[in-house]
Amino acid sequence: MSHLLDRLADVIGQDHCSTDPALTESFTTDWGGRWGGPALAVVRPGTTAEVAAVVSACGAAGVPVIPQGGNTGLVAGGVPAEHSDPLPIVLSTRRLTRLDPIDEVSGQITVGAGVTLGDLHRYVAEHGWEYGVDLAARDSATVGGTVATNAGGIRVIAHGMTRAQVVGIEAVLPDGSMVEHLAGLPKDNTGYDLASLLTGSEGTLGVITAVRLRLHRPHAPSSVALLGVSTYDEALALMRTAVRPGYTLLAAEVTDRTGVELAMRMSGLPWPLQETHPLTLLLEIADGGEGEGFDPDVLETLDVVVGLDATERARLWTYRELQGQVFTAYAAEHGAPPAHKLDISVPMGDLARCATLLKERVEAYPGVIAFGVFGHLGDGNIHVEIAGPEQDDEAVDMIVLGAVSEFGGSVSAEHGIGRAKSHHLSMSRSPAEIAAMRAIKRALDPQGIMNPGVLLPLESPA
Ligand code: FAD
Ligand code: MLT
Ligand code: ZN
Repeated sequence: MSHLLDRLADVIGQDHCSTDPALTESFTTDWGGRWGGPALAVVRPGTTAEVAAVVSACGAAGVPVIPQGGNTGLVAGGVPAEHSDPLPIVLSTRRLTRLDPIDEVSGQITVGAGVTLGDLHRYVAEHGWEYGVDLAARDSATVGGTVATNAGGIRVIAHGMTRAQVVGIEAVLPDGSMVEHLAGLPKDNTGYDLASLLTGSEGTLGVITAVRLRLHRPHAPSSVALLGVSTYDEALALMRTAVRPGYTLLAAEVTDRTGVELAMRMSGLPWPLQETHPLTLLLEIADGGEGEGFDPDVLETLDVVVGLDATERARLWTYRELQGQVFTAYAAEHGAPPAHKLDISVPMGDLARCATLLKERVEAYPGVIAFGVFGHLGDGNIHVEIAGPEQDDEAVDMIVLGAVSEFGGSVSAEHGIGRAKSHHLSMSRSPAEIAAMRAIKRALDPQGIMNPGVLLPLESPA
């Protein structure tokens, strides 16, 4: 393997090729400290040609490649497995920071895979545009990582998931060849849509090096209302009735009482409403920032607080944005392992029944010290957090996933499958679908070097 390391150092420079565990640890352990394992090296190519050279060299040596962006993924797709043979190379895209001028005519931009969502938002805002995907990990998550996972986030209700923003892609395929289709033509029926195929492929079909993205003009300034509600059905109804016709709903997010209380402990903020409620519903609408878009007749029947300026809006969002961290922090305080995180969707009409059933079943599970639900109500996508059980306690996860199956939902609504959920894929995809996915994988990556064991479970040797 020293031959491969010499070759990689030749190609990208010794400074961008690390083997020292003190330098590589943050790349080989996932964001939540739950998963990871050793790598042969972490390499940080600075150009698409360097990415291609790295992938070719790894292919020639039979060494797996794990593409990694901001390492904020929640399903262990961007870090090595605990045990791998041979050890993989982690290919970090963070130096691929191309930010082309905005194409003002088409409202599109070509962006390097390593640009963070936060930097992209700031750059396009300076030029009077907005990008439609946003999420709490915005200052670390990269454009490449969000495309590779087809990330959702807090604006899906207004703009759709990441795939809906991607109009072209540049990528290095597992054989080291480069594909580039970045013209962003609105109409282009010239065969298979590789951009769409690579979106959501979680690093298993190639390394995305740049993306052509659709932008939109900014909405009117927004207003945020935080409403106390009792049930999911009530929250779903309010999504429609609390907003007056003609105003665009930018976000509809829910947090349960446990989650709000844990966010209060972490942030030092007070309970946000006058009374406590089983759920809080956050609605953000584009209405000029005057609160005009909320129906006063509906609001006056509710316990509600409205935020009109940027500081107030951010304060009301804090309770929701902290949810991804607060259960694990609570677990750590109690000497428990990081919280189990599940990311599910069910038909909206079944959300209330599903959530009630989950609460009953999970809270009765031995060793559970905290259970909470929060998420993207407007997309029927909820995140379930369970603190207490050991990490390898699959039975508690199966309570949640079993309920998802009962309601015909998805075992991964937006986080992807990664390595952590690959053995659950068959709960949401049929054998025929999985066979078709394997056929695509084999066709593009016959050697199986690109992120093996992620998305599709490793096949046991015949
Ligand atoms: P990584 O974690 O580095 O990688 C994720 C996957 O993509 C891996 O399989 C990796 O191999 C692959 N990959 C990365 N870059 C490339 C590339 N250039 N080419 C090919 N494959 C690549 N997700 C949501 O969908 N919605 C949310 O609301 C949301 N909120 C979050 C909030 C917090 C606080 C955190 C920590 C995470 C959140 N996530 C959310 C999950 C995560 O941010 C997203 O999955 C994000 O898309 C990952 O981007 P990344 O650059 O960190 O990718
Ligand atoms: C969110 O919506 O906050 C996330 O997807 C993050 C998480 O589930 O931890
Ligand atoms: Zn989410």
